[in-house]
Amino acid sequence: MDTLLQPDTLSGMTILITGASSGIGRATAIACAQAGAHSVILFARSTDKLKEVAEHISKSNSRSYILAIPCDIRDAPAVYAAVEKSLDDPKIPQIDVLINNAGLAVGAPASFPELKLEDIDTMVDTNLKGMLSNSGGQSMMQRKAGAIINITSTTALEVPPFPGEAIYHTTKASQEGFTNSLRTELQGTNIRVLAVRPGVVADTTFHKQRIGFRKDEYDTFMQGFEPLVAEDVAEQIVWILAQGKRKERVAVKALDIVPTAQRMLYVIDKDWNERNGVKDTKIEDS
Ligand SMILES: NC(=O)c1ccc[n+]([C@@H]2O[C@H](COP(=O)([O-])OP(=O)(O)OC[C@H]3O[C@@H](n4cnc5c(N)ncnc54)[C@H](OP(=O)(O)O)[C@@H]3O)[C@@H](O)[C@H]2O)c1
Repeated sequence: MDTLLQPDTLSGMTILITGASSGIGRATAIACAQAGAHSVILFARSTDKLKEVAEHISKSNSRSYILAIPCDIRDAPAVYAAVEKSLDDPKIPQIDVLINNAGLAVGAPASFPELKLEDIDTMVDTNLKGMLSNSGGQSMMQRKAGAIINITSTTALEVPPFPGEAIYHTTKASQEGFTNSLRTELQGTNIRVLAVRPGVVADTTFHKQRIGFRKDEYDTFMQGFEPLVAEDVAEQIVWILAQGKRKERVAVKALDIVPTAQRMLYVIDKDWNERNGVKDTKIEDS
């Protein structure tokens, strides 16, 4: 077992993860359970996928209590109801950590003027409004303790060079703005407000959805370098939470977790695979 994911690393903690049905959210739920979280609450829309994640964890050696609540993060009243339902569960003592992970990019490679209005709404409502409504009604605000981790992106800080990313970039940059403002507004509490910025992560549905399942574009984008997998990000999230658990005074305010080959957002070492004897990632591998 990875040394980070010891059964006492996150002992006693209850962790709510949005977008827990797939990719980074799913991997984070599994990692938190492996790291001994008291309970893990899973939010996403896909009931079947949530069930699969809950079953996967319960088949492992984890003793974490898993509560899966299907919920659309764009529907603020549904989000509040799901949080309330979590807190009404006698096995959930309180929510210690909120991980705002649900998010997507759609519509590439259409540039902004060609982007469909419904795609713009989907990204703004999910990535931005979803994160905002989910961050408001948390019991940790009353307790003045806990952690909120917003999964933003390296694209939050640098404008992506290819078309189709204007709105995604805008929502991710806004997430960073909200993260910084909320951290400041919550002075007078012990609540940490943190950002995790992944670079390219391949084994999730994100890029397939982003480019509309166009296999050739996906394969070209992934060619020549070794992207991250969701578990790489999940392990770092556990590490961040472990730092805060060890020392109340320590907050890992933001963490960029990128493939070594991704030197900047758009400077990717495409000789990486040849130099390191790694096979290209194709859509069927991920
Ligand atoms: N993959 C990358 O390269 C990369 C890089 C940087 C940042 N990120 C960020 O990482 C986060 C996770 O992405 P991922 O790569 O793990 O992608 P993913 O595999 O597509 O996972 C996205 C998750 O978001 C959930 N979701 C989407 N819309 C939702 C809604 N309306 N309500 C509730 N849940 C919703 C999905 O669940 P349901 O469909 O079941 O609702 C799914 O669980 C996103 O915020 C993304 O922007 C990803």
